[in-house]
Amino acid sequence: MTLRVAVIGSGPAGIYTAEALVKQSGEPLEVDVLERLPTPYGLVRYGVAPDHTSIKSIANYLRGVLELPEVRFLGGVTLGEHLTVEDLLACYDAVVYCTGAMVDRRLGIPGEDLPGSVAATDFVNWYCGHPDVDPSRFTLDSSEVAVIGVGNVAVDVVRVLAKTAEELSATDVPHEVLERLAGSQVKAIHMIGRRGPEHAKFTLKELRELGELANADVCVRPEEAVVLGGDFPRQIKGNIEVLRSWSERNPAGRPRRLDVRFWLRPVEILGSERVEGLRLERTRLSPEGRVVGTGEYETLPVGMVLRSVGYQSVPLPGVPFSEKTMTVPNAAGRVREREYVAGWLKRGPTGVIGTNKSDAAETVRTLLSDLSGQPPRDLKRLDALLTERGVRPVTYGEWQAIEAAEAELAKSLGRGERVKLVGLEAMLRACRP
Ligand SMILES: Cc1cc2nc3c(=O)[nH]c(=O)nc-3n(C[C@H](O)[C@H](O)[C@H](O)COP(=O)(O)OP(=O)(O)OC[C@H]3O[C@@H](n4cnc5c(N)ncnc54)[C@H](O)[C@@H]3O)c2cc1C
Ligand SMILES: NC(=O)c1ccc[n+]([C@@H]2O[C@H](COP(=O)([O-])OP(=O)(O)OC[C@H]3O[C@@H](n4cnc5c(N)ncnc54)[C@H](OP(=O)(O)O)[C@@H]3O)[C@@H](O)[C@H]2O)c1
Repeated sequence: MTLRVAVIGSGPAGIYTAEALVKQSGEPLEVDVLERLPTPYGLVRYGVAPDHTSIKSIANYLRGVLELPEVRFLGGVTLGEHLTVEDLLACYDAVVYCTGAMVDRRLGIPGEDLPGSVAATDFVNWYCGHPDVDPSRFTLDSSEVAVIGVGNVAVDVVRVLAKTAEELSATDVPHEVLERLAGSQVKAIHMIGRRGPEHAKFTLKELRELGELANADVCVRPEEAVVLGGDFPRQIKGNIEVLRSWSERNPAGRPRRLDVRFWLRPVEILGSERVEGLRLERTRLSPEGRVVGTGEYETLPVGMVLRSVGYQSVPLPGVPFSEKTMTVPNAAGRVREREYVAGWLKRGPTGVIGTNKSDAAETVRTLLSDLSGQPPRDLKRLDALLTERGVRPVTYGEWQAIEAAEAELAKSLGRGERVKLVGLEAMLRACRP
């Protein structure tokens, strides 16, 4: 009997799930990876910063999985739009949901919805050329910008704002986005942490990169860099040391300035028609370790606020979802009979790409143990169902044609190895001329 499994989502979790299925199953197997976009790799393509080319090259490994004979890529197929859970269970022995975390967490402060207050999810999608965001969406016409949050996404956003367009020219940033970055008026970037340097979520390697920016001076206030006592893990010690050394630096007069701030929480985004400022309150920790305000305020004269306070998953129609944890409740990956989950949808939006490998392996162990020894099912064929509904999936070969068009575009513009095509129409034109 051939085991048939549908994996929903082709980010790292989905592709590592497909790989684990092939590696762990002793039986003949067919794995269909269904993806709402015409392109695979999820946040590796539309999240990892364009200038982090070595991390992006993990796509070469993921490609190898999609090229396994047991695995098939079907792009442009959305669970909840083209297919229901019932459809999937009629066509496959099991389904694994790997749809990640696509939306931003909210701050819940006045002014959050003013024009100029932007979720990092949207800004990242913009510079990564995600088809959900138009390349004309952002014009960087403010001289001062605040980035709220001190995680690795905030660091990515800050770096893209601080670099020159020339520095980003060899990356895959869409050409219209690069032109907008070239016209940026940004002079000062404020990165805001609501707790101290010892609590920041960014990793040491990523933090150090900010100190090497050719186009921006990095400044830290000595009084905010002070960390009292504590025997911290190596990474955190490293962060504290780097921040302390920056607090002793004198600005070298570079065109842009990055202020890394701590112990400040946003209380209101100011402005009537659009963002005109950000009101912050100084914080401290309560004896229980909670962030509390001190009643001391300051206002930054920023025209743009980028909220980088974490991603969150969205419920899939017909799939259980906890509004408390914003994940799909599961036991070692099992959701219900024949339904499984992996990746950010399973454990929340934390962890690096590699974390999804062991996570997917756990889910696959549960799945294969549940299904072993079960009698064969009388399953329908997904292809017939999609044809009936007028859905023509993007094949792996068609995705390769999109990649070839992106390489061609880069060559014609004299830029790097690839320049992203933006918009579904352009991608489909490239693969179905
Ligand atoms: C901005 C950013 C930068 C990052 N940079 C790094 C980095 O440099 N290094 C690192 O190690 N980690 C990085 N990470 C973390 C890493 O990207 C994640 O750990 C990883 O992508 C999570 O994998 P996933 O498969 O669960 O989700 P995703 O990568 O989000 O994949 C989910 C996939 O599901 C698809 N999908 C969604 N809904 C549906 C649906 N209804 N039907 C069909 N398909 C659907 C989506 O289109 C997407 O392709 C970064 C994360 C972010 C947010
Ligand atoms: N290069 C890389 O390896 C890379 C790049 C990008 C992303 N990633 C990974 O992807 C995951 C997601 O990253 P992320 O940066 O989105 O999330 P994150 O690491 O959870 O950081 C979120 C930041 O937002 C702050 N925050 C949350 N709510 C806030 C509020 N209401 N007001 C003010 N600040 C608030 C948090 O502060 P508190 O700590 O006080 O809550 C924290 O500083 C992480 O695991 C990250 O390491 C990795």
